[in-house]
Amino acid sequence: MAKTGQRETIRASLEKRPDEVASMFDGVAKRYDLTNTVISGGQDRYWRWATRRALDPRPGERVLDLAAGTGVSTVELRRSGAWCVAADFSQGMLAAGRGRQVPMVAGDAMALPFADDSFDAVTISFGLRNVADIDLAMREMLRVTKPGGRLVICEFSTPVFGPFRTVYMEYLMKALPRVARAVSSNPDAYVYLAESIRAWPAQRQLARRITEAGWSTVKWRNLTGGVVALHRGFNLG
Ligand SMILES: C[S@@+](CC[C@H](N)C(=O)[O-])C[C@H]1O[C@@H](n2cnc3c(N)ncnc32)[C@H](O)[C@@H]1O
Repeated sequence: MAKTGQRETIRASLEKRPDEVASMFDGVAKRYDLTNTVISGGQDRYWRWATRRALDPRPGERVLDLAAGTGVSTVELRRSGAWCVAADFSQGMLAAGRGRQVPMVAGDAMALPFADDSFDAVTISFGLRNVADIDLAMREMLRVTKPGGRLVICEFSTPVFGPFRTVYMEYLMKALPRVARAVSSNPDAYVYLAESIRAWPAQRQLARRITEAGWSTVKWRNLTGGVVALHRGFNLG
């Protein structure tokens, strides 16, 4: 762990060791929500709204919001009237969201602390990219989803229009770390963010991985020109 002056800087490597990832999120927790809104130019609210629309939770349903962090994504889901629980393995993120009126559970996406067939719907926003073994996590999500239940993954993706993709990649690698330095409690984490987005599979490849994990009729929809993609699948047994 590196130290810069008084400030501890924790940055996970792309190997995504779970202890490093959890410490990194502990380190950004305090200003996580604000930083997101600033670096996304306010688009984060639209992405969360679109995630809820794609998942379409209904009153009476049980919904798991995995890698929920401070619970900001869970609060949006709860607007539907469904019962929604936030789960995350960063104690710092969960603590930063303690004021939110949603149930929160400490748990690892690769070994979920829930019984088989517990949820009508499962979702993960900007979390899967950080999980060390995404195939295992997608199988775990399938295990805890009832037959007929659904999955929505909201994650950064690959912009579809070439010239926009070039500008966006420049933003990621050059401007984003600078903006994060001004607002985040751990700017180094945003260098990891940029690198992990670049290393992440594009829409079609991710859809294939989701299908290979056992989900059916997997489709995706691009948001903000493909900066973010929503992948949806069903547990058809
Ligand atoms: C970028 S935040 C997303 C938080 C929230 N879903 C949102 O939309 O703002 C990613 C979260 O994934 C969590 N995470 C990463 N790997 C995890 C794992 N294996 N199990 C549980 N949570 C994990 C981190 O602790 C962090 O809170």
